[in-house]
Amino acid sequence: MTARVYTIASGKGGTGKTTATLNLGTALAQLGKKTLILDADIGMANLGLLLGLEKCKITLHEVLSGSAKINEAIYDGPAGLKVVPSGLSLKGFQNANPEKLREVMSSLIEGMDFVLIDAPAGISKDGVIPLAVADKVILVVNPELASMADALKTKALTEMLGRSVEGVILNRAELEKTEISRNKVSELLGSKVLEMIPEDANVRRSAAFKVPIVIRAPKSPAAIAYFRLAALIAGEKFQDNGLKEDREGFVDRLARSLFGGK
Ligand SMILES: Nc1ncnc2c1ncn2[C@@H]1O[C@H](COP(=O)(O)OP(=O)(O)OP(=O)(O)O)[C@@H](O)[C@H]1O
Ligand SMILES: [Mg+2]
Repeated sequence: MTARVYTIASGKGGTGKTTATLNLGTALAQLGKKTLILDADIGMANLGLLLGLEKCKITLHEVLSGSAKINEAIYDGPAGLKVVPSGLSLKGFQNANPEKLREVMSSLIEGMDFVLIDAPAGISKDGVIPLAVADKVILVVNPELASMADALKTKALTEMLGRSVEGVILNRAELEKTEISRNKVSELLGSKVLEMIPEDANVRRSAAFKVPIVIRAPKSPAAIAYFRLAALIAGEKFQDNGLKEDREGFVDRLARSLFGGK
């Protein structure tokens, strides 16, 4: 079986693509899926930073400039996740030829169940190629007009390239307005909302610790949303075990304090 390749894109910058790539990728790996994430944001590489891989000498930059093989740029991440970071230097970016990503895709997908590509913002050449090499594109949007407008443009570009959008991750959503914004977003973008990720301070905290939120704070609202998304993408039933344990724990504690017992 060959991997399913998803490119995580948005159009607008800062919507949460890198966070989504990292946490969806890690959650898929935790489900036992062979998963690789790749930082195609070769100008403003962030994915490696979120995992403490910034000191790696060989990155996608070296692969795209022809000075290294793709296998040399694959690193181990958490839960068996494989990671291809991009480099931080401007020179490395200048030497990299984004077109070369097409050539390395066949080696990347070998033996994998899922490959997630973190796309850059915008529609320049280094942004177009990640859309073109995907089986499906996932759009990360925030519930605001500029983000929707840019996502719509990215969707149109994806379709011009002969690819299609799988759906939308509505990030930093206000959960109390859940259904209204969910329906509005899917209507505006003509794509289904795969998952809503709430605004969650744990996202920034986890980033500071260089550990994905699905590992560092697995019971936080954003992590639970990522687990649900991973189950959907993997075609598996979402297991709500952790949450249940918490609730049962509370009920047990209450019963004990009221009625005594162990
Ligand atoms: N659900 C969330 N709750 C709170 N903060 C979030 C959430 N998702 C992302 N963030 C924060 O938003 C900022 C931007 O996220 P991220 O880097 O993932 O976006 P991006 O789309 O990859 O940006 P760029 O276009 O610059 O590559 C980060 O500081 C991140 O910690
Ligand atoms: Mg990013």
